[in-house]
This record gives sequence, structure tokens and C-alpha cells, in this order.
Amino acid sequence: MVYREPEILVGLDLGTTKIAVVVAERDENMREPQIIGIGQAPSRGIRKGLIINLEQAVQSVKAALSDAENMVGFDVSAATVAFSGIDSTSVTSKGMISLGRTPRQVTIQDVERVIEAAQSELAVPSNRCTLHTIPVKYSIDGNSGIDDPLGMTGIRLEIELQSVIVPSSVIQNVINCVERAGINVQGLVIKSLASAMGSLTNEETIAGAIALSIGGGTTSIALYVDGRPVRLSVIPIGGDHITNDLAYVLKIPISKAEDLKQKLSLDPNDIEVETMELDIRGKQREVNIYEAIDVVRYRIEELFTEHISHQLSDFSVHMFPAGLVLSGGVAKMRSIDPFVSELLGFPIRIADPLDTYQMPPGRNDCQYASVAGIIRYMTNRERNPYRYIETPISKLRMGPSQIKGNVNKVRKKESRTSRNESIRSFVSAIKRSIKELF
Ligand SMILES: Nc1ncnc2c1ncn2[C@@H]1O[C@H](COP(=O)(O)OP(=O)(O)OP(=O)(O)O)[C@@H](O)[C@H]1O
Ligand SMILES: [Mg+2]
Repeated sequence: MVYREPEILVGLDLGTTKIAVVVAERDENMREPQIIGIGQAPSRGIRKGLIINLEQAVQSVKAALSDAENMVGFDVSAATVAFSGIDSTSVTSKGMISLGRTPRQVTIQDVERVIEAAQSELAVPSNRCTLHTIPVKYSIDGNSGIDDPLGMTGIRLEIELQSVIVPSSVIQNVINCVERAGINVQGLVIKSLASAMGSLTNEETIAGAIALSIGGGTTSIALYVDGRPVRLSVIPIGGDHITNDLAYVLKIPISKAEDLKQKLSLDPNDIEVETMELDIRGKQREVNIYEAIDVVRYRIEELFTEHISHQLSDFSVHMFPAGLVLSGGVAKMRSIDPFVSELLGFPIRIADPLDTYQMPPGRNDCQYASVAGIIRYMTNRERNPYRYIETPISKLRMGPSQIKGNVNKVRKKESRTSRNESIRSFVSAIKRSIKELF
């Protein structure tokens, strides 16, 4: 028997707080790849999910790669990359084709034709491109709920597509960053899809579920109905905003606010001491824990009531009986689950990465669900190429002259959004102080 080297699969997650790399291997006897290493490094040059300093981002990617390479003992050269996709839109379109006057079986060419028909309904602006195309519903002769139309018989085939449309500049910056770090980009996946793949079970996706990942700079949301994602969105708010609020309201440095945040519980009944002493540049400062919890609860409440509820507004709660599965670093906050469950009136569970038994110790919690999800995305796409259609990287590329302009655009936009953000948190803090007065 001829021995074949196992196939290596690599996923790279470009986060705002950390860059994570997953390495998995699969040999011919294995159905599922096995994760053999998770590397990571602090993320620099990425804010609210957007690359704002290419060189710093490249260095962070290199550091995360070498961490993974040290763990697995070999170099990696290619990866599928998850990125936030801020400003992306998740759009539904419909298509219909005739199969002829007399009923006949649906062929692969028909499936391609009906997908193209639905795609042609989309008006994609010239500075954007379609990254994912996901059939969410097929019907034959008006009978909906068809899981896979191939080989089924009828005279009319209809489809509903979910397309994720991303600014071309964002995609180009991601490809450019990873390639400069010496890695060939094999595929791209939006963070909301990678996180959902890493945290929802098949049963949950079929029953109907919401995957929510709250990271450092972004919150991504994926809504699943009948096993298919019917919405994939990213909101530019994450754990960093909570840290900034704490620093601002309690007048403490960001690093102290970050430490404090990670020690807090959202359930005031968990609190044993009312105040905490912080050493700030050699001076002792007393911080009121109840005040700190209020600040965190306020920001999380705002995220859910103003942003996430908006993403859910087109859907009925009854479409998601499996409830909400929470991942990302912020999901590690103590007692966040009962707090969010009460806010939304939904059952909620904190995601362990689905492949948790394969993950290395210390890198095996809800913060690593999205990087592990990249491997699941790769295998799912390979098995069902018509379920997760991804535009090839060669089509997503642009010329270097455009790249330069786009980097500048991204930076300008970033400074504007961060200014808006600080104004908003200033207003929120004032509102809070006013509430406390009365
Ligand atoms: N125990 C904890 N309690 C509260 N927050 C935590 C805890 N551990 C980590 N975090 C927060 O989680 C965030 C980082 O999460 P994660 O690693 O999922 O982000 P990321 O993937 O780098 O960012 P993004 O996906 O937004 O681009 C940070 O804001 C960090 O402060
Ligand atoms: Mg992330």
C-alpha cells in the first residue's frame, strides 16, 4: 500500500484582539479532519474588525503563524481566512427557471442556472463584491422546503439565495495582509459564518438557531433556519467598547479597565465585596463594583436592544427554537448568559467549540469557536459545493494601484467611526449620570 502524507488544512482568523490560526490534518481514512494545533498572537493594526495599519497587521499574522508552526512542528503555506466584514450586507434574492413543458429531473446545470438567475437579480455596486452565495430555499413546481433539488422531477425550479456582499477594499486589504505574511489565501469566509460553523450543532441549525459572537471590536450574528443561514451580519461593537466605557466612567487607565472587566460578574448577587482597590500609577483608587457592573450591563443591553434586535426584526422568535448560542471572548464574562437570556427572552448557551475534544488546553473555549469553525466551513464547502458558493480568490483580486487608495480610505473611515463612537459613549455616560441624579 502506498503511504500518502496527511492533508493539512489551515484556518486563519483575523480578529481585533487576537489573530488565531488553526491547523488540522486529515488522512485518507478519516472523514473529519483532526485539529492538531491552535496558534495565536495579539492583534495589532486591526480595529473594529478593519485593517487600519497593514504593516502591523502583517507582523501580527506572522507571529500567530509561527506560534502555530511551533506547536505542529512544520511550516504552513496556505490558509482559508476569516475576517470581520464590517460594512458587508446580507441580501436575499430569488430566481426561477423552467425545466420544460413536461416534467423532468433537475440536473446540476439547472441548479447552476437557477443560482445565476437569482444572482442576476442582485445589483452589486462596482466597489463591492459578492463573497458568499448560499441557497437557502429551493422549490419545485411551487412545493417549497426542498433540501436538495438534484434528481427531483418537475417543470419549474425556484430558489431563494442569501448573498454576502463585501466592500472590495476590505477584501483586498485582507488578501494583501495575509499574502505579505507569506501565506497563500485559498479562501475567505466572513466571521459570522465561521463563528456559527464553530458553535452551532447540526441539530440546532436545522431546528433554527442564532449564533452570536462578541469579540474585541465586533459582534457577528448568523441566523439559521432549516439548516441554512438566512442572515449573516457584523456589528462594529465588541468587548473593547465595554473596556473603554469602564475606563471613561470610572476614570481609570484602559489596562486597568480591561483587568477589572475580566473579573466582573454580571450578576450583582455574585459580588462579595462592594469596592475594589486599584493601583493606578502608584496611587490607590477605590472602584465601586456595582457602578462597574452597571456600566457593563448598560453597554451589553444597548448592543442587544439597539443593534441585535434590529437584525432580528424581520424574523419571528418562533423561528429559532434552539435559542441563541454565544461565543467570542465576551461570552467568557461571568453570568452573561442569564443576563442576555432575560434581555431577549430566549434560551441561551455559551458555545464550546464544536471540536472541543481536539483543541489544545488553554485554547479551548468560546473565544476559539470561530477559528475552529473555519475548518468546518472548509469541509462543509468541499462536501456541498452548491451550499456554500464562494467567489474564487482570483476574481476578488484588484490591481496594486487600487490597493493603495483603499488602504487610505479604510484609515479615514476608521478615524471617523471611532470619533462617532467616543461621542456616543460620552453621551451615554452623561445619560447615565443624569439617570443616577433622579
Ligand atoms: N473573561 C472575560 N470576561 C470578559 N471579557 C473577556 C474575557 N476574556 C476575554 N474577554 C474580551 O473578549 C474580547 C476578545 O474576544 P475575541 O478573542 O473573541 O475577539 P477577536 O476575535 O480578536 O475580535 P473580533 O472578532 O471582534 O475581531 C476582548 O474585548 C476581551 O477583553
Ligand atoms: Mg473574532
